[in-house]
Amino acid sequence: MRLAVLASGYGSNLQAIIDAVGNGKIKGRVEIVISDNADAYALERAGRHDIAAVHIDPRRFSDREDYDRAILTLLQGKNIGLVVLAGYMRLLSPVLVEGFRGKIMNIHPSLLPSFPGLDGVQQAIDYGVKVSGCTVHFVDEGLDTGPIILQEAVPVYDHDTADSLQERIHEVEHRLYPRAIQLFIAGKLNLEGRRCFQNEA
Ligand code: GRF
Repeated sequence: MRLAVLASGYGSNLQAIIDAVGNGKIKGRVEIVISDNADAYALERAGRHDIAAVHIDPRRFSDREDYDRAILTLLQGKNIGLVVLAGYMRLLSPVLVEGFRGKIMNIHPSLLPSFPGLDGVQQAIDYGVKVSGCTVHFVDEGLDTGPIILQEAVPVYDHDTADSLQERIHEVEHRLYPRAIQLFIAGKLNLEGRRCFQNEA
């Protein structure tokens, strides 16, 4: 299966996905990495692995729909089977969500539905929760509201800062995201309404 990764920043999850493709844990390949940010380190990671790295500047488009239409066309042209959001900082418009309905995943650094949106890690620290974690979910039109595929908890310690908690969450993300992607590729994810089950297909 051909994967597209959309990333705005550092791209450590992208790296985990590239590594999982390399060692056979993901039976697919990253066809293209797209970023809204010219300086995203994720683009450099893609380049190093001979993956097409494309910056699409949102300022060249009149609105969100127009921007997403350009991305949709690019993805369709490359026969992409799954779109993976990895630290992608833009909310998808219905244009893209409908074009790849049920074929877009995101990873979020909290146990959704707690702390959606920006700074999920800081939100957890500020709220004072004792447990947080990360969530892999399908993307719908809302902000981090789509059906949940996998979740894993991590403890929050008294001495934690957003940075130390983020680091603990990242470690789990790098394991969880490739697993969710391979479950999808293997046809093992079954959606019934909001609930996502793993079957033995
Ligand atoms: C991750 O923590 C992910 O949960 C969130 O953005 C962060 C991206 O990190 N959506 P990276 O760019 O993959 O290192």
